[in-house]
Amino acid sequence: MADEATLIGAARAARERAVAPYSGFKVGAALETAGGAIVTGCNIENATYGLTVCAERVALLKAVSEGHRAFRRIAVVAATEDATPPCGPCRQLLWEFCGDIEVVLANLERDLGHHRLAELLPLPFDARFLS
Ligand code: THU
Repeated sequence: MADEATLIGAARAARERAVAPYSGFKVGAALETAGGAIVTGCNIENATYGLTVCAERVALLKAVSEGHRAFRRIAVVAATEDATPPCGPCRQLLWEFCGDIEVVLANLERDLGHHRLAELLPLPFDARFLS
């Protein structure tokens, strides 16, 4: 298991690679797999605006495409005084693949709080409803 400073550090480094020319709002994410690997993501914006992909989603889809299917934690970093939580669609996608993981929020200087995904996405719709 990676220590939390390492996970947050990876999210901060990923944030440096954000492509955010339209909003100027750079976000980094670092997803820790059950095996202790760290897969990072940054937000990547698009001139259509709507095709922009959030940092959390980039990290998640990279990880799944690399064969990871069990996760422990995700760290999300932005350069804001208050914590930047994952948006609604990212919460839904994280729930699908990660379940009730820990969500660590931080800025460039410090840790800003810990949440469980179930707390951020109460009463989720998921595969249980399709069976
Ligand atoms: N963004 C993320 O990458 N993750 C979040 O948790 C919140 C928002 C991005 C999307 C867009 O590129 C920019 O931040 C402003 O919304």
